[in-house]
Amino acid sequence: MRPAIRLLALSGSLRERSSTGAVLRSALDLHDGPAGTADIGTLPHFNPDLDGESATPPPAVAALRTAAAAADAILIVSPEYAHGVPGTLKNALDWLVSSGECVDKPIAVITASPFPTGGSYANAQLRETLKTMSGRIIPSACLEIPAIGPKTDPATERVSDEATLTDLRTALQALHTA
Ligand SMILES: Cc1cc2nc3c(=O)[nH]c(=O)nc-3n(C[C@H](O)[C@H](O)[C@H](O)COP(=O)(O)O)c2cc1C
Repeated sequence: MRPAIRLLALSGSLRERSSTGAVLRSALDLHDGPAGTADIGTLPHFNPDLDGESATPPPAVAALRTAAAAADAILIVSPEYAHGVPGTLKNALDWLVSSGECVDKPIAVITASPFPTGGSYANAQLRETLKTMSGRIIPSACLEIPAIGPKTDPATERVSDEATLTDLRTALQALHTA
């Protein structure tokens, strides 16, 4: 039997009835093992003056770093805004650059969009940023989900589309294997 891995899941959307949230919840349903999330919406704007050897990081930053350090792998699920990464998510990653919790850590990047592009700009930018942070992007665990709207069920706030669930299952298996 494979040992369970601890997953940290980060969402790039703060919206209450978010399609990203539905994808993230479905991915966590499919994950066989412990998992946690971090409330990145409460993080202060990244400021190097609040960080480093001469400063104590803000509590929300310390909590994010603790959660990232405890995780065996990181799952990032995000929408795309203006062909880019949502500011909240980029801000969270900026807080993790110098502290190093992402170094060598297996990472899956999943983007979802109501459009046919599946958030491909944000997906590529996230991968580039995480690669620069020395994270280990697992290509077979990364997904761009197009036309997400009808693929989710508002009642369950989960993905309802079988093909997408299969893709999510495959992605999580790849992350687990990595
Ligand atoms: C300000 C703004 C910019 C957006 N830009 C893009 C974009 O560039 N590409 C895209 O695929 N979707 C874009 N969208 C649509 C979002 O993908 C859509 O609102 C999605 O539902 C947001 O994810 P969520 O449901 O998890 O909050 C944009 C939405 C907003 C509000």
